[in-house]
Amino acid sequence: MKISLITVFPELHKTFLQTSLIARACEKKLIEVNLVRFSDMCAPKERIDEPTVSHGAGMIIKPEITQKAIEQCQEKWGNGFKIFFSPQGQKLTQPLLNKFSEKFNSQENTHLILVCSRYEGIDARVEEHYADLVLSIGDYVVMGGDLPAQIFLEGLLRLMPGIVGKKESVEKESFQGPVLDYPEYGLPVEWEEKKIPEILRTGNHKEISQWRTTQAYKKTFLSRFDWFVSSNPSTQECALMHTLIPSHYIAIMHTDVKLKVEGVGNTSIASLDIHDAARASITYGIKNLFIVSPLQDQQEILRTFLKFWGSEIGKKYNESRQQAVSCVRPVFSFQEMIETINKQENMKAPIIITTSAQNIKYGKQIDFYSQGKVWQQDRPVLFLFGTGQGLSDKILEKSDYTLLPISGLTEYNHLSVRSAISIVLDRWLGLHSKIY
Ligand SMILES: C[S@@+](CC[C@H](N)C(=O)[O-])C[C@H]1O[C@@H](n2cnc3c(N)ncnc32)[C@H](O)[C@@H]1O
Repeated sequence: MKISLITVFPELHKTFLQTSLIARACEKKLIEVNLVRFSDMCAPKERIDEPTVSHGAGMIIKPEITQKAIEQCQEKWGNGFKIFFSPQGQKLTQPLLNKFSEKFNSQENTHLILVCSRYEGIDARVEEHYADLVLSIGDYVVMGGDLPAQIFLEGLLRLMPGIVGKKESVEKESFQGPVLDYPEYGLPVEWEEKKIPEILRTGNHKEISQWRTTQAYKKTFLSRFDWFVSSNPSTQECALMHTLIPSHYIAIMHTDVKLKVEGVGNTSIASLDIHDAARASITYGIKNLFIVSPLQDQQEILRTFLKFWGSEIGKKYNESRQQAVSCVRPVFSFQEMIETINKQENMKAPIIITTSAQNIKYGKQIDFYSQGKVWQQDRPVLFLFGTGQGLSDKILEKSDYTLLPISGLTEYNHLSVRSAISIVLDRWLGLHSKIY
């Protein structure tokens, strides 16, 4: 593989290229690098940059300087795949690196041209004209494209044959699948009063392997559940994840809710809400959907509904609906619901997360992507949804967390409870598959 690196500071890349595995790859002629200095493209006394046009701070590298540099690289080694680095580019990920290593591995002569800009960046026309790919190393701005180019090269080259000794050590890393790598330990057995987990010293390969799998899943759901849900996990991987994360419950409160006409009180149940919330609950792996109402007549309607869906006629009518409705639990009060959960969860009390269309602040506020913070407490999780005008202050005071409100790009803010339930569940527990 031939690599042209166009840069303002070639000296930044010299130690990089002369160290460790990259140096060895150069020695073994697996890669050849051509360092090109932008300023070598200038006429005597010419500068490589000029102020940006119109108001605005900063300097930009002149288009003809980048053009000359790219063309000189192509004269030397032929047409190249041109990568520009910019915080506005496509985010560099392991799947993207895998894709490029496969692409470059399968072709005879690869010539990569990496353009590392500085200052305010590259003239927009140059990027538009030349770039085959614009890459970002993350949502932050560094001073130049040199470190981004080195990060890209380290990620890519370790996947190319012959560069890293053991193939296994690059294939079994974090981000090669939906779960992160398991924790690793070395000797001594005890360090700073912390011991290596006992299981790793038993020599029982089967149990060690199971332990490592569980640890890898735990690390993933505590710190990068976003990665898991966006990396197309298999049905088996989802099933295992579901057994390892804490149990989840939701409740639709028909009591202790604010009413349109002043005060706090009860609301009527709506069968459409129960159908839809039950279907969402089963989809996202919720253990029970509680319907909380102290009113005898409402409870009777609910029990008639559940009796129908639990019956043979209900099953014949729509079996998948029967399956969904099987998670519904009618309860008379908030207290009865908590006691039911405690019993089911070996007396572990649930963490209560309340929801509201307003920005309320009881307990700690939490966003939709901080599952790890909640799950690290190893307790069941209960989401409370209000009806009427929302949960009363008495209920909100019980919050361990309040979830940020759901909102769109407009100011309209009147979702039905069943829509809110689906949105929250999808954000909290849903798979968000990506095509890489
Ligand atoms: C100071 S930055 C210019 C930032 C640009 N004005 C903006 O706000 O999008 C200068 C150069 O550093 C490189 N750079 C900075 N942050 C980067 C990132 N997150 N990923 C890739 N390249 C980056 C790019 O080559 C960029 O043109």
